[in-house]
Amino acid sequence: MIRLATTTAIIVGGLAACASPGPSTSGVPAATIDTRGAASNAVTPAVFTSEQADRGQRVFSEVCSACHGANEFRGPIFSMTWMAEPVGHLFEHISSNMPEDRPGSLSPEEYAAVLAHFLRVNGREPGDTELPSDPHLLRRMRWKRPQAP
Ligand code: HEC
Repeated sequence: MIRLATTTAIIVGGLAACASPGPSTSGVPAATIDTRGAASNAVTPAVFTSEQADRGQRVFSEVCSACHGANEFRGPIFSMTWMAEPVGHLFEHISSNMPEDRPGSLSPEEYAAVLAHFLRVNGREPGDTELPSDPHLLRRMRWKRPQAP
């Protein structure tokens, strides 16, 4: 029985990994994937502060701009790809793959600050609460503004 259960878990985990866009989401429990669309009350809008976005902008120009243009992470293509996904997907992508020559070399707070900068250049309004650097919280956060009822 134990072996069966383990096998099932591996299969479910493998399917979940295939269904997600990036390689870094393979650790997401299957339950999270299943409830992604239905349990909308578990989804929170992304928050950040303007100080945090300023910090992110500095990190971007010191580190990321060696290879990326300032306008690369805004506009329709960025919206249709990364901004259709939870904020955590981009966090995980960046924090495990970027900078390309030194992956994972920044602190989680620096990666979160870069995301705050991306939120701001895509027209989101800063608030009083910083964007967290906890991948579990970020995975529940959406780029889109909540729809008015
Ligand atoms: C040494 C060059 C280099 C640096 C520095 C660098 N990147 Fe990249 N980045 C790349 C390359 C090359 C790709 C495309 C290949 C890939 O996705 O791995 C890429 C892809 C990306 C993507 C995916 C683009 C997309 O739309 O699919 C994101 C997001 C990203 N980088 C963010 C960052 C951030 C944020 C930083 C700074 C913390 C950074 N990069 C620093 C070279 C770099």
